Amino acid sequence: MSFLEGTFSVKDKISPSYINLLNPKYIEIDNMFYSSILIINYYREQDDLILRTLIDTNINLNISLFYEKQDIYKTIRDLTYHIGNVGVDLKNNNQNRQDIDIAAFTYNDAKYIRKEMQINNEDLYFLYIYITTFSSNIKELEYLLNKIEGILQSKGMQTRRAYFRQEQAFLSTIPLMKNGEELKEISKRNVLTSGLVATYPFISSAIFDERGIFVGTNIYNNSLVFIDRYDTKKYKNANLCIFGTSGAGKSFYTKLLILRNRLLGIEQYIIDPEREYETLCNNLNGTMLKIGPRF
Ligand SMILES: Nc1ncnc2c1ncn2[C@@H]1O[C@H](COP(=O)(O)OP(=O)(O)OP(=O)(O)O)[C@@H](O)[C@H]1O
Ligand SMILES: [Mg+2]
Repeated sequence: MSFLEGTFSVKDKISPSYINLLNPKYIEIDNMFYSSILIINYYREQDDLILRTLIDTNINLNISLFYEKQDIYKTIRDLTYHIGNVGVDLKNNNQNRQDIDIAAFTYNDAKYIRKEMQINNEDLYFLYIYITTFSSNIKELEYLLNKIEGILQSKGMQTRRAYFRQEQAFLSTIPLMKNGEELKEISKRNVLTSGLVATYPFISSAIFDERGIFVGTNIYNNSLVFIDRYDTKKYKNANLCIFGTSGAGKSFYTKLLILRNRLLGIEQYIIDPEREYETLCNNLNGTMLKIGPRF
């Protein structure tokens, strides 16, 4: 009898109620529209973190990066073969100018890659980057897509929208480790290890407590850092620990904190084995206590 009641599994619970794949520009899943962008080209010389500006925006994004390491011996062998071939082409004069330009470009590029691999011990990878953004509103989706394209293009990357390939692109940007075959053809780019580093995506974003006090700037994204140590919702307690290389400004910051606290009339105790704070203490009319064994 229980058969007739039907079965309802966990899968049914988490799966969407509908998926609409009819539109080439986006796919629609439970009132949410998803659209993808493929990065199809960028500078090899890029040494900035290329995804930084994108990640620092507050756009809803799913980014997928696929790396495929290439066999170094095979690559060098192919490159050498290619360099030889194009080299001959270049010597051949009866071609039109444009051909020669392109040949010269690939020739230099191939030589550059070979040199980096042989001398600087770099590896060659194929790199694929897909970005999916989503919104419950089609107009906003369009706005987000334009914004993403703008950011990427200003960083020297060429993009293409995944029209007619939205499903593949969507599947490639969810954590399935699935790199869509048809997307691969268009977005494949080779990078050396140094270029690969530029795609590092785990970048700390802004540290900003609403009622915080300005501490300094975040060197990774130039954002201002405001910390409210007494925000008990965010931090368990107001303890602070300062690390930094010698001369980085640890003592300076500590003294600044002491002065600020002083302005607020907070009672402060400093344990100072190096007597580094003696002047500060005197200037603030504090009391120096010597603690130690008596000899
Ligand atoms: N925010 C700042 N603006 C301007 N100058 C600063 C700043 N922070 C530190 N300095 C200067 O940098 C120098 C080194 O700072 P500080 O002595 O605080 O470094 P430290 O990290 O305590 O070094 P150490 O590890 O040697 O104790 C000092 O001359 C200080 O005046
Ligand atoms: Mg110091």
